[in-house]
Amino acid sequence: MRILLSEERLQAGVDLMAERIRERYGQQPLTIVAIMTGSLVLLADLIRRLDMPVRVSLIQASSYRGGTESGTLWIRDNMMLDITGRDVLVLDDIFDTGKTLAEVTKRIDSMGPRTIATAVLLHKRARQQVELNPDFVAFEIPDEFVVGYGLDYRDLYRNLPFLAVLEESEIGASMV
Ligand code: IMP
Ligand code: MG
Repeated sequence: MRILLSEERLQAGVDLMAERIRERYGQQPLTIVAIMTGSLVLLADLIRRLDMPVRVSLIQASSYRGGTESGTLWIRDNMMLDITGRDVLVLDDIFDTGKTLAEVTKRIDSMGPRTIATAVLLHKRARQQVELNPDFVAFEIPDEFVVGYGLDYRDLYRNLPFLAVLEESEIGASMV
């Protein structure tokens, strides 16, 4: 495992993202819809840097059925708050092909928010397959499979405080 972003760099990136979000919304109330489970750590760090009235809503989406290959996306929205007429910020850990964020944003848009914007910790620009561009991005990263700071491989490594590249030899080998 190779460290791509240290704990310090991640924190600095979240600081900057929070600053840009504060510039955009000021003291307007904001509803953050966090895509579980990958954005959990980012969510906890980000909301503590915001000072407008913040509501947190969760939505679950998954396209990774246990490995690194993308499959069919499923969305579970039974933990959503009512976002009618709200300013909504959709939050995810990583924008890879962008299909997850595009699909989830479409679903949330159908619930009648006043405005909708998107924020991700990481953006793998080389893999993008959708028109949508995230409004707030903390880091652009190369096309490598990363874990830590909420991101998983087979539901493991989310608790690492840094972001690491999982090497080819480690993918599939870890039968924990
Ligand atoms: P997309 O729909 O292709 O943009 O994929 C987004 C989702 O795939 C994210 O929410 C992650 O859960 C997962 N994902 C994509 N790339 C990685 C990675 O490098 N490490 C861990 N999860 C990833
Ligand atoms: Mg995810």
